[in-house]
Amino acid sequence: MSTSQNSTPVITFWTRISQSSRDLVIALIVIASVFLLSAKLDLSEKFIEWALAHESLQLDEFPLVLFAAAFVSIWFSRRRMREMISEANRRIKAEHASQESQRMFKTLFDQGLCGNFIADIKGNILLCNQSFSAMSGNSESTLNLKKAIGARWDELCSKLQSVEKVDIPELTVARPDNAPWIVMARLTRALDNPQSQEKKIHGFFTDITEQHLAERELAVLLKENQALARHAMQVQEEERRNIAREIHDEMGQYLTAIRLELASLPKDKQHPLTEFAVRINSHVEHIQQAVRGLIHRLRPTALDAHGIAEAIEQLVNEWKKQHPAVDCQLALDKSCLSLPEKISIVAYRIVQESLTNIARHAHANHISIKLIGTRGILSDTLTIEIRDDGVGFNPHTPRAGFGLSGMRERVEAEGGTFNVQSQGKGVVISANLPLSTEPKAIQES
Ligand SMILES: Nc1ncnc2c1ncn2[C@@H]1O[C@H](COP(=O)(O)OP(=O)(O)OP(=O)(O)O)[C@@H](O)[C@H]1O
Ligand SMILES: [Mg+2]
Repeated sequence: MSTSQNSTPVITFWTRISQSSRDLVIALIVIASVFLLSAKLDLSEKFIEWALAHESLQLDEFPLVLFAAAFVSIWFSRRRMREMISEANRRIKAEHASQESQRMFKTLFDQGLCGNFIADIKGNILLCNQSFSAMSGNSESTLNLKKAIGARWDELCSKLQSVEKVDIPELTVARPDNAPWIVMARLTRALDNPQSQEKKIHGFFTDITEQHLAERELAVLLKENQALARHAMQVQEEERRNIAREIHDEMGQYLTAIRLELASLPKDKQHPLTEFAVRINSHVEHIQQAVRGLIHRLRPTALDAHGIAEAIEQLVNEWKKQHPAVDCQLALDKSCLSLPEKISIVAYRIVQESLTNIARHAHANHISIKLIGTRGILSDTLTIEIRDDGVGFNPHTPRAGFGLSGMRERVEAEGGTFNVQSQGKGVVISANLPLSTEPKAIQES
């Protein structure tokens, strides 16, 4: 009982003082104990007596050597201590930095708008963020990427053994609830835990399903639109052909009949009706010419009879007659001799409308018209180019007319490209028309 009462203040004192004070107390106790023991047992005297007896060994120098050894070891241990403290500080700093980067990685992983996940090479999702859960329809626990992506998963995993990351612009993933899921993906090797034998894969998914579906719908609409435009053009051409025939058959017959009737009248110059007959004949002739021109514009007969090359030559010659001051050059490729009918009509209408536009708006001095066929790997192409050196215009400002938009519609309906260029002076109209819709088989040379 008395022992515990005595020891309590000592223990209390011991626990209150710092570690360095404790070390000092221990050192003082050890020194005092050694001093008391040495004084009690006369150790130094005995050592001196023994050293004197063996003077040849110079043992009386021993305390000084011990003192020097103690000094050196204290100095070394202090230096080692300092090294250990700075090493410990470095480690603490590195640990803080690592914790900070882990925290940042976790924030990026969890809060990222991309779907982030870590999966094993068997395709099981080990960890994922909320975005990934949301885009997978909260089915990440049942989702297996190997099943969802198929053989592509193994292919990607083996690729990741040789490269750091793999980017996939479009990847279709089978969602467990069968909803469409298309993503843009990046897969990287996850940092391996040295203790773990299993390789892991870190993936980022960006959901592009909506965009992809919208693009697909847009492509369908565009195709429908092209088909509609093509149909409208065909109907228009058909209708023009019918109107031309009707005018020719109905009006043309009667006009010819009137002229025949007039010709059968007596040619008596003195007769008062002769003058009227001559004038009527001239009017009818004028109407006949106008009707012929109209019929020709509605459906160029040369196009049906002799093909595009001759029809365009006729069109250009006719235009030149009406505009003798303008220098107009026409270059027709041999390939134009045998163009498909629908392409011939498009080409004819483009040249026709371009010449009309030049006459109406351009005030040009020189015109060049080229129709050239080019052989391509996938398909042959007809290139049409009409170039004038007139006043030009800004093709990017909206205009009221239908000529240019009609040309564009015709070309695009046939799967071609149409372009209008005008920079200050002159205009270049160009169109590329594929001559076969089916791609050509690539021939081996
Ligand atoms: N070769 C050209 N040189 C100068 N301006 C041109 C030329 N071709 C077209 N333009 C300009 O482009 C506009 C649009 O031409 P577009 O053929 O579409 O319509 P339009 O000729 O005015 O009318 P329409 O519907 O009868 O063809 C024209 O009004 C004209 O200002
Ligand atoms: Mg026009």
